[in-house]
Order: sequence, then C-alpha cells, then structure tokens
Amino acid sequence: MNTSFSPLIFPDYESLSRHTASELFVRISRAMEQKKRFVVGMATGNSPIGTYKHLIELFKEFKGDLSEFYTVNLDEYYPMDRSSKDSYYQYMKELFWAPLAEINPSFNGERQGIILNGSASDASAEALRYETVIQELGGIDVQLLGIGTNGHIGFNEPGQPGDSRTGLVKLAEETIQVNKAHFGGDADKVPVEALSMGIGTIMDAREIILIASGESKAPILSTMMKLTEPTDDIPASFLLKHPKVYYFIDEAAAKNVKME
Ligand code: GLP
Repeated sequence: MNTSFSPLIFPDYESLSRHTASELFVRISRAMEQKKRFVVGMATGNSPIGTYKHLIELFKEFKGDLSEFYTVNLDEYYPMDRSSKDSYYQYMKELFWAPLAEINPSFNGERQGIILNGSASDASAEALRYETVIQELGGIDVQLLGIGTNGHIGFNEPGQPGDSRTGLVKLAEETIQVNKAHFGGDADKVPVEALSMGIGTIMDAREIILIASGESKAPILSTMMKLTEPTDDIPASFLLKHPKVYYFIDEAAAKNVKME
C-alpha cells in the first residue's frame, strides 16, 4: 500500500510526456496482443497533450487490432454541446480519437472513445449511465490524471468526499479563473458546473498515473508531500490510499518538493 507521495521527477515536460506515453502504450499493446480488453481513463487540460502526441507516435508502429481498446474520459463541462470547440469531446476527438483512428482504423472513436454527455437533459441520469458503462466495460485499467492548482482531480473540487461517484459538480472559483484561458480569458464564459467521475470512481481504477508539469503545480505538490492521510480539502490526497498510483512530474513542478 502506497501511503506517501513519492513522485518520479523528469527534467522537462517532453521527457515526462514521453515516459507517460510509453507506460500507457506498453499496457495497451500487451493487452491487445493477448486479445484482452483494455480501458484507459483519459484526462484533459494542458498536462496530457504531450502524452497523447507521443502515444499516437507509438501507435504508428503498432499494427495489431485495437478493437478492444476503450478510452473513458474523466469529465465534461455541463452544459456543453459536444460540437463546441470548448468541449472535452472536441479536445479528445482532435488530439486522440481521430488521429488514432486514422493510423489504425480498428480503433473506432465513436464507439471506443467514451465521454460524459454535456448536453444530457438529465444530469443525474447521465452520471448513472456513465457508471454503468464503466462497469460493463469491466472497470478502468489505468486512469491518467492531471491535478488542479487547488488539488482537484477530474472536476472534484476541495470538499468532495473520497467515496463520491460520477455526478454533477460545481467548479471552484480558482478552477474557473485557471480555465478561463481556454475561454478567451473570459471567466463568465466558463461553465460553472461539470459532470465528473467521482473520487470513488477514480479510486476504483486498477492503476493510476498522475502527471503534473510547470511551476503553477509546485505549491500543491509540496502540500501533497507533507500529507500522510487524505483530507477532503485536497481531492488528490485520496490517491495516497490507492495501492497502485504513480506520480510523474517535471522539474518545474517539483521545485518545492525537492526542497523538503
Ligand atoms: C481541469 C480538468 C482536470 C485537469 C486539471 C488540470 O480543470 N478538469 O481534469 O487535470 O484541470 O489542468 P491542466 O493540465 O491544464 O493544468
């Protein structure tokens, strides 16, 4: 049982991304060769962009069948139309599903790229449906996570209980301020709610990889470093209780961590 935060530190974002991609690729390709289903929980935001780029590169060398490879995303703004350029649906389509389907047509993004529906009329019904979809897939094999400057994972903001399941959540003011950069700098354009896997849903993943890059993440990572027990104030702290979690961070994010 992993009860401390002991990250692997990479010199820069590029090497962090390359390493994360190869960790994912090894697991996915091994499962595909054994004709086993493999489900990766996907994150959005800036942190995983490099990982997806390198993962696509690695898949160029893989000629096997990907029809049992599924991706399920952590979250989506609510309300959010999937055709909107601001949706996580479009982010995934552009950065991962479409490029992968192009190099290996056995991956069908429409079927195998799964994400919460930000325009569902009944948010609770959509959340329940998502939990069922994950369960029917056999659960998440490896969940990729970023971390918010306030310690959020997915859109689980401080205060969210450690056993929460997928549902409608309110964005913290800090998150709105950080994420407004993706909405032309206008905080009023950032949806105030989102559908997100719960912390309990994330914790059910068999393995978890959390990635963090850049100086803005240094303060929260140094706080994580000092913790021995999870606290509701820092959603990522619940990961301390997960038996198989890896933290990959770069030098800039590790600034305060190394000073300890
Ligand atoms: C967003 C997402 C999270 C993401 C986090 C960090 O709000 N909902 O899933 O991990 O914030 O984003 P970034 O990687 O851009 O720093």
